[in-house]
Amino acid sequence: MLNFNLHTTTEIVFGKDIEEQIGPRLKELGVHRILVHFGGSSARTTGLLDRVEKSLFAAGLAFVELGGVSPNPKVSLVRKGIALAEREGIDFVLAVGGGSVIDSAKAIAMGVATKTDPWQFASTGTKPDTTLPVGTVLTLAASGSESSNSCVLTNEETKEKRGITSETNRPLISFLDPENTYTVSKFQTGCGIVDIMMHTLERYLTPEGGESDITDRIAEGLLIAVRDAGRRAIANPRDYEARASLMWAGSVSHNDYTGCGRKRLFPVHKLEHELSAFRDEIAHGAGLSVLFPAWALYEMKNDFPRFAQLANRVFGVEMDFHHPERTAREGILTMKRFFEEIGMPTHLTQLGIKPENYAQLAANTVRTVKGPVKSYSALDEQAIIEIYKLAE
Ligand code: NZQ
Ligand code: ZN
Repeated sequence: MLNFNLHTTTEIVFGKDIEEQIGPRLKELGVHRILVHFGGSSARTTGLLDRVEKSLFAAGLAFVELGGVSPNPKVSLVRKGIALAEREGIDFVLAVGGGSVIDSAKAIAMGVATKTDPWQFASTGTKPDTTLPVGTVLTLAASGSESSNSCVLTNEETKEKRGITSETNRPLISFLDPENTYTVSKFQTGCGIVDIMMHTLERYLTPEGGESDITDRIAEGLLIAVRDAGRRAIANPRDYEARASLMWAGSVSHNDYTGCGRKRLFPVHKLEHELSAFRDEIAHGAGLSVLFPAWALYEMKNDFPRFAQLANRVFGVEMDFHHPERTAREGILTMKRFFEEIGMPTHLTQLGIKPENYAQLAANTVRTVKGPVKSYSALDEQAIIEIYKLAE
């Protein structure tokens, strides 16, 4: 197990009917003027936005609204949000939505506090050292942004999607009511299941970390719970316990708890962000469900025992000690079948990506990360193209 420093600072308020606590709790936290930030339409049509604003109003808190965040949130709306927040003297940004709304809120908060355009951080890899406090009312179990230290933005002019990782990005408080996810479509539920699993798998399948048995067992438990709850939530979107498991797993999976003592590299995410940047219609979870099995088949040769352990403990594949490569491969194929069972794509063609796009996508990826993508092996352009071929 490697040395680690875990500091997950977000207060979590979890359960049914917690919206009425939002106003009073924010008041206790010393908040005065709030920017309520949301997405396209779901927060309003479900009535959640009304309930949140009612709670703020009842607590005597002033707020202004900014809606319109699209999936793969755009830096142009972030800039509008910064200007609005400065004009209105905002001291707190409250995101009501999924990962895209939360990341947009994080970027507005950092832009106001640092007086720097957030794309400056994204494009140079520098970290903001301060922010306005951010709160979230989560509506989709997926990204883990409600307690993570990252913020992912898209620049629609340059067609680039980049992350900003900084401890200042962790929200101050997140309100997690599983009932707010009942209306999430089957497809977005599937995307969320994949993303939650990937945040733990990207910490589990890494070259450094030794035995780390406690971390492995926590990770494996989470993966099993998400697999089972995922099946139930897809079959019955109003299954409270299943939605609750997914919601809590989403936060735990990306607040660093499932990766203690292991090196964090996130190669599949780096490959995926390039797909979503290339075609804005590609949902993050859908890109991951296509790329993960291909990446795993390409990389398993570098650590057959670890891929075999995953296959055996999480997917019940019988361990072949003489041929761990067989167990490893069967585990990856079982996981691919699971993604298909929950309605997720597993082929690049399903995302509208064709062989003639491979060279450009691979070149974009290497340019974005400024060199080969760190993984078990260093993934250069040729290796990335090989992975695309395995995902055809
Ligand atoms: O815009 P609305 O109308 O709200 O519709 C959204 C959107 O179309 C809809 N939705 C959300 N909650 C709903 C709902 N529909 C019905 N009922 C509800 N309760 O779902 C669609 C997708 O929303 P989005 O926020 O884009 O999804 P997600 O939460 O998966 O976030 C994806 C973004 O997060 C980034 C991804 O790259 C992507 O940009 N990530 C952020 C991370 C972080 N900050 O830590 C880590 C992740 O790895 C990820 O990269
Ligand atoms: Zn993700």
